[in-house]
Amino acid sequence: MTDHARNTLFEPGAPLRGTVTVPGDKSISHRALMLSALAVGESRISGLLEGEDVLATAAAMRALGAQIERGADGVWRVHGVGVGSLVQPATALEMGNSGTSTRLLMGLLASHALTATFVGDASLSKRPMGRVTTPLGLMGAQFMGTSGAGGSICLPLTMRGIVPAVPIEYRLPVASAQVKSAVLLAGLNAPGITRVIEPVPTRDHSERMLRGFGATLTVEADPDGARIISIHGEAELNPQTLVVPGDPSSAAFPVVAALITPGSEVTVTNVGMNPTRAGLFRMLQAMGADLAITNEREVGGEPVADLVARHSALTGIDVPPDVAPSMIDEFPVFFVAAAHAQGITRTSGLDELRVKESDRLALMARGLTRIGAIVEEQEDGLVITGSGGDPLGGGNGAPVIDAELDHRIAMSFAIAGLNTRGGLVIDDMSPVATSFPGFADMLATLRGAA
Ligand code: S3P
Repeated sequence: MTDHARNTLFEPGAPLRGTVTVPGDKSISHRALMLSALAVGESRISGLLEGEDVLATAAAMRALGAQIERGADGVWRVHGVGVGSLVQPATALEMGNSGTSTRLLMGLLASHALTATFVGDASLSKRPMGRVTTPLGLMGAQFMGTSGAGGSICLPLTMRGIVPAVPIEYRLPVASAQVKSAVLLAGLNAPGITRVIEPVPTRDHSERMLRGFGATLTVEADPDGARIISIHGEAELNPQTLVVPGDPSSAAFPVVAALITPGSEVTVTNVGMNPTRAGLFRMLQAMGADLAITNEREVGGEPVADLVARHSALTGIDVPPDVAPSMIDEFPVFFVAAAHAQGITRTSGLDELRVKESDRLALMARGLTRIGAIVEEQEDGLVITGSGGDPLGGGNGAPVIDAELDHRIAMSFAIAGLNTRGGLVIDDMSPVATSFPGFADMLATLRGAA
C-alpha cells in the first residue's frame, strides 16, 4: 500500500470534459490468461488489465506451469501447457483481493491431480467460497478451509483436485458468473459433458472465450427460459490472439461523474458493451441521462462502443431485480447517480452486494447518509431520495469515508465527492489499483488539471 493513497480529498471543481479510455475488462482479462495457459502454444493478449487482481491470476498461472511475459509493446505472451497439464504449485497461491481469480482457479484446479493452497487479503478472506466448493466437491475435489461468518468455507483454503473428475449437471443457486465459470472450467478436464443450468443470465465471457479457444460448448434454453450450458470435457484448446475491450465497470465512473457534474461532457472510447454487462447504461438512460452509445462494433468476439455522457437532469426509477446481474458491480456508483436524481430510486434483489469486496449495501447507505443523502437501507436493496441535482453535503467539513478495502466503494465516493459542498475524504484509495490503475490521473485529465 502506498502512503499517498491514504486520506485523499475529493472536492468540487471544474466540470469534466474530454475523451478518455479505461483499462481492459477485468473479467475478460482473467479468463484470457487462464485459457491461454491451457492452450498448447503461444497466445497473445493485448489490452490486458494490468491491475493487481489480474496480476494475481498471472502469477498463479505461472506457478501452475505457464510461461507468461509482457512484451515492451504491451502485448502479453502466454505459453500454455495444455488442459490437464498444470503442475503442482511450489507455494501458496496469493490471491490478494481477487474473488474472480480465486473462484475460477478453484474450478480449473478441481480436475487436476494437484494440491493448492489459496490465501488472500482481509477482504477476500471473509468472502464465501462454499458456492464454488459445493459443486466442485460433487465433481470429486476436496477442500479444507476456514469457517467464516455465515458458516461458509473461506480462505485460507487448501484444495485437492481429482482426475478423473465427475462431470455434473448443476443448477446455480445464486446468479453468479464466477460459480458458473468455475464449474465449466472444471468440466474442461472431466470426461463427458458437464452442464450448468443458469436460471438468471449472468456475464457470458467464459462461454464466448471457451468457444473461441476451440472448446465444444453449447447453450440451449430450457422450457422455463433458463440457460443450459454444456461443455464437452477433455478438450483441446488452441492458442489465440486476443484483444480485451475497455471495462464497462470502469467506464461507469467517468460516465456517472459527467452526468452529475454541471457543465460536463465526457467521451469514453472502446467500452465493452456485452448485454450481460451493460445494465447500468440502460438504467441511466431510463433515468433520462444524456448518454449516447456510438460507433458500435465488435472486437475480439465482444460488442464494443464509445460512450458520450453529458450533464443531465436525472429522474428516480425502480430498477427491476432481473437487471441486477447485468450491472452487479455498478450499483455503488449507480447509487451515487440516484442520490442526485429528482425523486425516489428503488432497488431490490441485491442480496449479493452484501458478499462482494465489502457489504456494498451497508457501506453505500452509510457513506451516502454521511454526505447528506436520504437513504433507506433494506435487506436486499436501497431506497434513495435524490437531491434533484443539488450537490450533497454541507456544513460539517469533509467527512471521512471508510472504503473497507473495496475499490468500487472508494471510486464511487471519489465521484460523489466531486459534487458535494465541502468535499469528502476517502481513508484509503490504494485498493483502486486492483481494477483501475490510472483512475486518479483520468479524473485529473477530465478536470483539466493534468
Ligand atoms: C465476475 C462475476 C461477478 C462480479 C465480479 C466478476 C466474473 O461476481 O461481481 O466482479 O468475472 O465472473 P459473481 O459471479 O459473484 O456474481
